[in-house]
Amino acid sequence: MSLPEPRDALKALEGYHSPQFDVDVRLNTNESPYPPPSAFVEAWLAALAEAPLHRYPDRSARELREALSDHIGQPFDRIFCANGSNEVLQTILLTYGGPDRLALVFQPTYALHEHIARITGTPVVLGERGDDFEIDRYDALARIEADQPDLVFLCSPNNPTGTVDDRELLEAVLDVAPGLVVVDEAYGEFAYRSALELVADDVPLVVVRTYSKVWSLAGLRLGLCAAPPQVVAELEKVVLPYHLDFATQIAGTVALRFSAEMQARVALLIEAREQLFTELDERAGVTVFPSGANFLLFRVAGEGREGDGHAVWEAMVRHGVLVRDFSAWPMVEGCLRVTVGTPAENNAFLVALDAALEEVQRA
Ligand SMILES: Cc1ncc(COP(=O)(O)O)c(C=O)c1O
Repeated sequence: MSLPEPRDALKALEGYHSPQFDVDVRLNTNESPYPPPSAFVEAWLAALAEAPLHRYPDRSARELREALSDHIGQPFDRIFCANGSNEVLQTILLTYGGPDRLALVFQPTYALHEHIARITGTPVVLGERGDDFEIDRYDALARIEADQPDLVFLCSPNNPTGTVDDRELLEAVLDVAPGLVVVDEAYGEFAYRSALELVADDVPLVVVRTYSKVWSLAGLRLGLCAAPPQVVAELEKVVLPYHLDFATQIAGTVALRFSAEMQARVALLIEAREQLFTELDERAGVTVFPSGANFLLFRVAGEGREGDGHAVWEAMVRHGVLVRDFSAWPMVEGCLRVTVGTPAENNAFLVALDAALEEVQRA
């Protein structure tokens, strides 16, 4: 007996892969290297113990959105929450994408923008970043004018390059885009510029954020976006009822009481990122790119288009350090991406990198 096939649009799709290995130092998925403060965990569990678990959670996540409203300086009705920013992105695409719609993404960028678009049956047009990974404003405007996309995805800081978009770029895109402009700011707290302040009732802008990175809560799955209330109301219609459980809603609310601790961690990670940048910049055969996020992209020179990136990645795994291998990706050929870790992890990374560079160059 043969099993049914998925719909045609899905047959050619590969799943999302980020290889995981059991190594000592994992700097491959841009998580926070620090667990959340233990006082947070205690306060969260105490509040959860009081929750009426036999009831469905608050569908509108009102308490969480009110707390977020104070935190991000946007009114409550401009905030939508979901299980990780990936679910926010999926809900945006389920609502504003579809077979008769078009999404524009600028590569290289976060693979899930294109991936979720295709899963929702949304055709995708691909723009390209320049050699410095900036989006050229005039190219972008020409693309938008030619293709008239219903959704434009920007990512600032961009994963995997770390590039922070110009304010002029965003304003120009907002001026000409015929549909929604989505700015993925999963790493927004690590950057010196955010699009959050441009969100307004009459601007077709959605800014996406997450608790996974800065808030050390990747394991809980909580993301949000700020958008005009009309957009938030449409997203609420599409997302599954009661999708955000008590544990997540309470965690998101309680975490905001620990803003000062989180700010201190952001400052630490930014400082460590800059130190790591300098270290990488000093190494022969390594080109590191400026980053506004909690990771750095660097290219390893070598013969051929992909340089020694993959060989160095493999050697680093043997030395117990896992980074993300982008060496075969178009436009980031030969590149690896390292998440900023604790001082000990960053040190282990540099030691493994040096050993790997030497082994590969000797081979
Ligand atoms: C740019 C970007 N957006 C969204 C996400 C998804 O994050 P979340 O854990 O909130 O689903 C990631 C995760 O790495 C990311 O890099």
